[in-house]
Amino acid sequence: MAILGYDVLGVDVDEGKVRQLNDGAVPFFEPGLPEKLAEAQASGRIRFTTDFDAAAEHGDVHFICVGTPQKRDSYAADLRFVDSAVREIASRIHGEALIVGKSTVPVGTAADLAELADEVSPADARIEVAWNPEFLREGYAVDDTLHPDRLVFGVASERAEKLLRQVFSPIVDEGVPVLVTDIPTAELVKVAANSFLATKISYINAMAEVCEATGADVDSLSAALGLDDRIGSRFLKPGLGFGGGCLPKDIRAFRARAEELGVGDAVAFLAEVDAINIRRRTRTVDLIRELAGGDLSGVHVAALGAAFKPNSDDVRDAPALDVARLLYLEGARVTVYDPEANENAHRLYPDLDYAESLDAAVAEADVVALLTEWDEFREASPASLEEAGAHPRMVDARDVLDQQAYVAAGWEFRALGRPAPQSVDDAARVPAL
Ligand code: UGA
Repeated sequence: MAILGYDVLGVDVDEGKVRQLNDGAVPFFEPGLPEKLAEAQASGRIRFTTDFDAAAEHGDVHFICVGTPQKRDSYAADLRFVDSAVREIASRIHGEALIVGKSTVPVGTAADLAELADEVSPADARIEVAWNPEFLREGYAVDDTLHPDRLVFGVASERAEKLLRQVFSPIVDEGVPVLVTDIPTAELVKVAANSFLATKISYINAMAEVCEATGADVDSLSAALGLDDRIGSRFLKPGLGFGGGCLPKDIRAFRARAEELGVGDAVAFLAEVDAINIRRRTRTVDLIRELAGGDLSGVHVAALGAAFKPNSDDVRDAPALDVARLLYLEGARVTVYDPEANENAHRLYPDLDYAESLDAAVAEADVVALLTEWDEFREASPASLEEAGAHPRMVDARDVLDQQAYVAAGWEFRALGRPAPQSVDDAARVPAL
């Protein structure tokens, strides 16, 4: 918003983060964001604070961007942070203000928040709530924010629509489609989109299971399906499946909300989407155990990757880290290496070993497992891994390596959803896609 020309005050309850941001440091890894923060700070249009009084005073439009994690004791979304952000800001507002939700929430939340705002705000406040779901992907956050596929405005009045159109005018003027709708639909668009994406990934991973039972190759299958325009190749990449702070908890929260609304059957299939996704993790452990000779105890495994996807240091519900933990529980000695996420991973699982480099991670590894497809791992050659001390056994859980190159170099090679190559000729039959 500051880059687009607005005067922005960012509020957080975490003093450490606020201090870091005011010092020009982004407290997580996101390519391109430090440069944008520097640009915004140089313009003098952005500051960060923990002071809600200042925030209420400052803004005409208040965006709520806090997390909605899964509750500890159920599949539902934990709305504590959204509630608290709205309460803190609304109780300090005088005059007109628009509160715009960006957080991913169960349908119906905005209506509850509007009531809450009404209840806690001073008598002279005229607060309206609107919903503007966020569709950015981690790793591409800057570009997705400045050049989104679409903007969705969930509004209850013309005034709110007008204000949102004005706020986003630099983006709208670039020709980005705007969809104006009622608030429940706007809330639903987000969970429906994430559920669709999760379903697409689990669909191809279900096909991978069938491939494993038949000797078929899921990479070729995915390529052939993706060439059908009606299906499309995006989010059809087989492998270890989805994780992160969004897709897993969103499909679960959607199921919980649908059940509350009496339409649980309509999204019951999301339980299967979840189950298929989780099965990829145990299947990866099976392949590693197989290469280790049937027993993981005392086996040294190099776990390449901890983040839930490349270009991120986010380890929330990370499939890679889950596999590392499962291996550890079976007695393997696991050394994790992630170019950006080691620190976050260590905080979560201090019992695993962590290496500072790819070479250090694979040194003496009995089995190497590629779990997050960072470029560094895709580009490493079988020869360089062996030179660093790895035994020539690779499990490619993201289906990104050139299996022919590995088999030609004498490696035992397994990948999810692909037949185990018996010889160099065998590996060559299957194109690396
Ligand atoms: C996801 C959505 O893509 C965003 O549109 C949405 O705004 C965001 O959630 C959110 O709700 O905030 P994100 O979680 O950053 O974004 O990551 P994705 O790029 O969607 O990847 C999610 C997971 O799916 C990763 O673990 C990735 O490895 C996996 N994936 C993705 C596959 O296994 N196969 C694919 O073909 C694509």
